[in-house]
Amino acid sequence: MRIITPLLLSALSFSLHAADAVPNSFWKERAPLEYQSWQTTESQGEREDMLAQRPQLVVLWAGSAYAKEFHSPRGHRFAISDVAQTLRTGVAPAQGQKGMSASCWTCKGPDVPRMMAKLGEEGFSGKNFTDLGTEMGNTVGCSDCHETDSTKLTLSRPHAQKAMAKVSLPFNEQNAAMQGAQTCGQCHVTYYFQPEANNKVNIPWIFGSTADDIERYYDTRRFYEWSHPISRTPMLKARHPEFEHWSRSHHAKEGATCITCHMPQEQGENGKSFSEHRVGNALDRFDQACAGCHDSKAGVEAALRVNKEKIDTLRTEVEMLLVKAHYEAKAAWDAGAEWYFMDEPLMSIRHSQWRWDFAVSSHGLYAHNPKEGVELLTTALSQAKQARAQLGEILLRLKVEKVSYPDLSSKEAVQAAVGLDMEKLTAEKKAYIDSEIKKHWPEAASRLPHE
Ligand code: HEC
Ligand code: HEC
Ligand code: HEC
Ligand code: HEC
Repeated sequence: MRIITPLLLSALSFSLHAADAVPNSFWKERAPLEYQSWQTTESQGEREDMLAQRPQLVVLWAGSAYAKEFHSPRGHRFAISDVAQTLRTGVAPAQGQKGMSASCWTCKGPDVPRMMAKLGEEGFSGKNFTDLGTEMGNTVGCSDCHETDSTKLTLSRPHAQKAMAKVSLPFNEQNAAMQGAQTCGQCHVTYYFQPEANNKVNIPWIFGSTADDIERYYDTRRFYEWSHPISRTPMLKARHPEFEHWSRSHHAKEGATCITCHMPQEQGENGKSFSEHRVGNALDRFDQACAGCHDSKAGVEAALRVNKEKIDTLRTEVEMLLVKAHYEAKAAWDAGAEWYFMDEPLMSIRHSQWRWDFAVSSHGLYAHNPKEGVELLTTALSQAKQARAQLGEILLRLKVEKVSYPDLSSKEAVQAAVGLDMEKLTAEKKAYIDSEIKKHWPEAASRLPHE
């Protein structure tokens, strides 16, 4: 006979509703092993400044907030402070002005579904980002992935529920493995803000979830995220499509999910096994996560190194061509080119940069689906070449003999070249952090590794 201890009972039955605030700390005593391992995501504080590593990104993203600051991801416990403190989200807008949408909070923690239930999806996205700062006290946590009254898995965001149904993977009809992967896929997925729906987050999978499918959707709708200030291209932005890439990988076919690799089973001190909630580097736990199917850690690491080098080399090549294409388009405009001529090359730039972004914004692509990554970048490369060939003809016709390209030697040099006043932006943000965020927002917004 199974004996249910009072502690276990209390871990399994709470009487709370989705719209109630469920702070992560609520689970501290109820599921201590999971809670403690979740807390250790705080030890994963390292991140890299991607713009400093690849200053050319500032040209590609000129005119969008990404040109101001862009880092690699780190532990889940930093999600709130990183989005609060990045230059990308700026400061509170002047009275009566519209600022950054609250949709920027969408993937940062369980207070988001709580506030969406309260305000409605469009009520939420219609707010300014800074309006909701005081509400965001919990980083990526328990009730993002679990129902609030049990440990059952759930997709707490309505747009994610809808997206999975669009690609014929409705959450409620999936097995436990796919449900687990979908909990990650609520956030580790590409999205855009729907301008006609108050900037509500939408996952653009009507035609499917490949780069081609999504591009078709955007092109049919004539959607663009911003107009590139140098080339005047109507641009698209991809965002971390980890779920999309994984879903087409051989690991997915073998039944290895995000959970298999990033949340493997561990033994607690009492010998009880639990799912490791320190979601982080998969290779650190090779024995638990990979050894069931792979014999040699060194062999796997060598394969990953080869994949990574191949992807890095290709992406650099695409980036350098796109920089040239943006400036060659500018030279054509400056020499009096007509829209009539520019349509084709600008479309080639748009499509090339979209594919490049769909590859490189997918963190861990070299591990998740290197084959698709190489294919995307190879197509992006030929589209960038095509743009330059088309621009070359236009420049010839306009008798432009020399195009000047920017100095790509440092992030600072390129930011100055594209007209960003970083000193001013940084000082304004710092003042806002000190006077507002640190004083009036919950502690989670100031939780940085050095503090
Ligand atoms: C990003 C999604 C995610 C977050 C955040 C998350 N969990 Fe989980 N949790 C899972 C998944 C996936 C499983 C494994 C379910 C399965 O396949 O059995 C799981 C399993 C569990 C289980 C069942 C026992 C076990 O260890 O497998 C408990 C209890 C649990 N989580 C508690 C928590 C608590 C407490 C928090 C917050 C501190 C939390 N979870 C945060 C996704 C998450
Ligand atoms: C509620 C949204 C959300 C969910 C659900 C979520 N993540 Fe994340 N994840 C993030 C954000 C945001 C970051 C970046 C945090 C930062 O850099 O401040 C991140 C970062 C990461 C990182 C980088 C960690 C590091 O130490 O470098 C990994 C790996 C990761 N997530 C995997 C997963 C997996 C696997 C799941 C499912 C079990 C998952 N995430 C579920 C939002 C989410
Ligand atoms: C076959 C194992 C495997 C599967 C399945 C898998 N990953 Fe990964 N993932 C890795 C490896 C290996 C890396 C690169 C090394 C690392 O950071 O762990 C990685 C990297 C990442 C990163 C980047 C971490 C960083 O700091 O740059 C994120 C985010 C991530 N994975 C999320 C996911 C999500 C979400 C899923 C499911 C949709 C998933 N992974 C499925 C093995 C896997
Ligand atoms: C359920 C079984 C399973 C698990 C678990 C698994 N793999 Fe794999 N992995 C495979 C299979 C099958 C292949 C394909 C083998 C082939 O094509 O020769 C593969 C291939 C690979 C490759 C080679 C792909 C390439 O690009 O050359 C790498 C790298 C890899 N896995 C990494 C990992 C890592 C890292 C983990 C753990 C975090 C992991 N795998 C966990 C089954 C698994």
